[in-house]
Parts: sequence; C-alpha cells; structure tokens
Amino acid sequence: MAVISDHCPEIEVTLVDIDESKIAAWNDSDLMNLPIYEPGLKEVVKRNRNRNLFFSTNISKAISEAEIIFISVNTPTKVSGLGAGYASDLKWVESSARQVAKYAKGHTIIVEKSTVPVKTAELIKEILMNSENNSDFENKSFSVLSSPEFLAEGTAIIDLENPDRVLIGGEDYRAINILKEIYIKWIPEEKILLTNIWSSELSKLIANAFLAQRLSSINSITALCESTGADIDEVVKAIGHDTRIGKKFLSPSPGFGGSCFKKDILNLVYLCRHYGLDSTANYWEQVLIINHWQKKRISHLVVEKLFGTVTGKKILLLGFAFKANTNDTRESPAIEISKNLIENGAQININDPKVNNKQIEQELSIKEFEENPISHGRWNFEKDIYKSAKNADAIIIITEWQEYRELNWQKLSNLMRKPAWIFDTRKIISKDNLIELGINFWQVGTPDI
Ligand code: UGA
Repeated sequence: MAVISDHCPEIEVTLVDIDESKIAAWNDSDLMNLPIYEPGLKEVVKRNRNRNLFFSTNISKAISEAEIIFISVNTPTKVSGLGAGYASDLKWVESSARQVAKYAKGHTIIVEKSTVPVKTAELIKEILMNSENNSDFENKSFSVLSSPEFLAEGTAIIDLENPDRVLIGGEDYRAINILKEIYIKWIPEEKILLTNIWSSELSKLIANAFLAQRLSSINSITALCESTGADIDEVVKAIGHDTRIGKKFLSPSPGFGGSCFKKDILNLVYLCRHYGLDSTANYWEQVLIINHWQKKRISHLVVEKLFGTVTGKKILLLGFAFKANTNDTRESPAIEISKNLIENGAQININDPKVNNKQIEQELSIKEFEENPISHGRWNFEKDIYKSAKNADAIIIITEWQEYRELNWQKLSNLMRKPAWIFDTRKIISKDNLIELGINFWQVGTPDI
C-alpha cells in the first residue's frame, strides 16, 4: 500500500487495523519503531505519510469512504477444529468481509490480497451479498477480485517496484480495469496477467509450493554431497547453468522458514485431499517432510560432532530471523535447532541484528536464562558476538546476515575453547577461509576434509 501511494499521488491510501498499538507505531513521528523491518520501507512511508498515505483505527469511516478495499489480513494454519494443522484459518478474512458488508457505500471493489485457499472469493461474495451483514442491501454493490502478493520479505520494496508479474483474477472487467490502472502506473502492461479468480488464488499457492520444492530438493542433496565428496556449490552451479533449471533460489540452508511456504503447502495438501487427490497431496507433503528432516539432521550433527554430547557446552547461535534482512522469525529453522540443543543440555547464546530477546522467548516458549529441568540446557540473548565467543565450544550460523560474513573469524576462533567447531548452515564463509582458521568446521553440502 505504501508503494501504491508512492506511485499514485492522486490516490488516497488508508491502512486500517484493529490493533491500536500497530497503527500508533506507523504514525510515530520519528519512524524509529515501525512494526516491520524491511529495507527501504521507512523511506517510502516517510515520503508519503500524511500526504496520501494514512494509518487509522477508524475502520468504519475508512470502509465507507473507500472505492477499493484490499483485504490483507493473515490467514494462519488452523490449530483446532476441522482441517486443523492443514487448512487456513479464514476468521480474519471473514470478519473483514463482514465489516466491509456493513460499512461500505455505493459500489465497492474488494481485492483479496491475503494468500487464501481456492474459492475464498466465493465466501467473501456470500458474506457481502448476505443481507444479515449488509443493512443497506439495496444501495450497495460489490465486485470481488483476487490479486495475490508475490513479494519476499527482506526484498519487499525491490520486489514491489519491479515484480516479475502481477496477477488479477476476476470476472468483472470494469473492476479489473480499475485495478489494472493502478498497477500500470509503474508496472509494464505485459507483466499484468489477467486470469479467472480461481486460477489467481491457486497460482499463489502453487508458486510458493514450487519455490519450496526447489529448496527441499537442493537441501535433500546436501546430505548426499556430504557423504559422497561432491560439493553442493559446484552441483548448484552445474545444474543452474541449465536455463530450464535456472540459478536462482537454490542456496542450501538449514531448512526454509517464514510464514508462507509451510502454511501454503499445508493448504495445498488439504485441498488435494479434499478433492480425493491423495497422490498429489502426498507428493507435496514430502516437501515439508524433507524440510523438517534437514533441521533435525543439523541438530543431530552438531551433537554428534561435539563428541556426542552438548550438555553444559557453550554454543553461539548466529541468526534467529528466518532469512537475512528481516526481523521476522516465524517458522525460522533457528527455533527447532535451538529447542533441540536446549533439550540436549546446551547453553546457547543467541545473536541476531534485528531480533530481540522478547521475540525469541515467544518463539521458543522458553524464558531467557530459564534452565530446562531435565537437561539443564538454557538460552540467552547476546549482543556482543566476540564476548560470547569466549570459551564457546561451537558457533552455528543460521541466518545469512551480511554482518556475519564480515566478522573477524580468526579472532573468534582464537577466543573459543578447543577443540572448537564452526557449523556454517548457509555456506557464507569460503572453505579456504575456514581451513585457514585451523579449527574444526562443517558446512552444509560440503564433504569433510
Ligand atoms: C516467499 C516467496 O518467495 C514470495 O514470492 C511470496 O510472496 C511469499 O513467500 C509469500 O507468500 O508471502 P518469503 O517467505 O518472504 O517469500 O521469503 P523467501 O525469500 O522465499 O525465503 C523463504 C525461506 O527460504 C527462507 O527461510 C530462506 O532462507 C529460504 N531460502 C531461500 C533458502 O533456503 N534458499 C534459497 O535459495 C532461497
């Protein structure tokens, strides 16, 4: 929405939320504590805020004045009830639609921006048209479009400025053209794809499933490289040169994280099972099984290399965000790996340039400094990496932050207790540099020397 306001000064964009503290943070005069960290976002907000970009909790007023409403609420995996563990919880979509039905005036275009299971637009339409939600049934009308978002966190502004494509799904050509007129202000027309509404909703799930599938494919091969003597970087280079495969999105990792891939694949699996397509469901579920396997494999490997036990050992974990350049920790591989190590009795010092101790506490559901009653493992946040490397038995790199690439690795290794280990789950340090350090190391997808 901030990027739309940037490119379309004639359009007034108002963001509404029921969470007053979030809206207050977006309205904060010095922009120091925006609710999300995203490179370049602060500047865009600063340029447009209170010009044609507004943040408000007055939902009814904003809805009644709007000609187009983007529903951009979250759709997490259901934790209970029908479809628990797989299906998306659409309660926020539903309650947004009910509010829109109640307060909208005249003709309103509703754009589904949230990632939703196929046929959610139908649910939205039903709510909008139902006179129970809609007091002034006669005097209002709606068009529902789907326009899913393809930006990735950490590169959101770059992705929005120059998307590979924009999708608009729908049947009402007048509404489609109005939305297209907005995107066309900065996106070439050939990149704006028009589809029917279900293709648009499904394409979003399938794009994420394909991306995640690439990562599980490459991560599954990391273990084979480690066993055979092949090197994952060389394999990626060799296969990526095939233009049919392509070079992007093949970096090995401790497993993919983020709020989208797992949720969307679970949704896809649920959808397939619903239509009796068990083979298709099982095929895609395997992407998640491999992702879980990679995280487990890495935790086991750390324990194994440290002579089969991490009890009482000091381990420095670098990175808690699910990827670099974001403060988002949802589904981060750091969560499972930290929990496994704490259960095995390790004393973990966690560092991250953008994530704080409160957020880590929430993700781990373990208080900082609190001892596990059985293993006596625990964790604490550590800002000073060099201080916490002192007498550490191991360093595990989880997130590929630029800051970590620039660390003085020789100084860090000198501070560690010997024999010391570095586990590089992202391959951010060159193997030659690691060899020069003269300590033990393990890199994902790299054979031991
Ligand atoms: C993903 C998609 O890339 C976006 O296109 C989509 O719009 C978004 O989900 C969404 O549905 O909202 P995001 O999860 O923000 O974006 O970030 P990604 O860059 O896709 O990274 C996801 C995970 O894959 C991260 O843990 C990352 O470290 C990992 N990854 C990524 C790798 O392990 N290797 C790679 O080569 C790339």
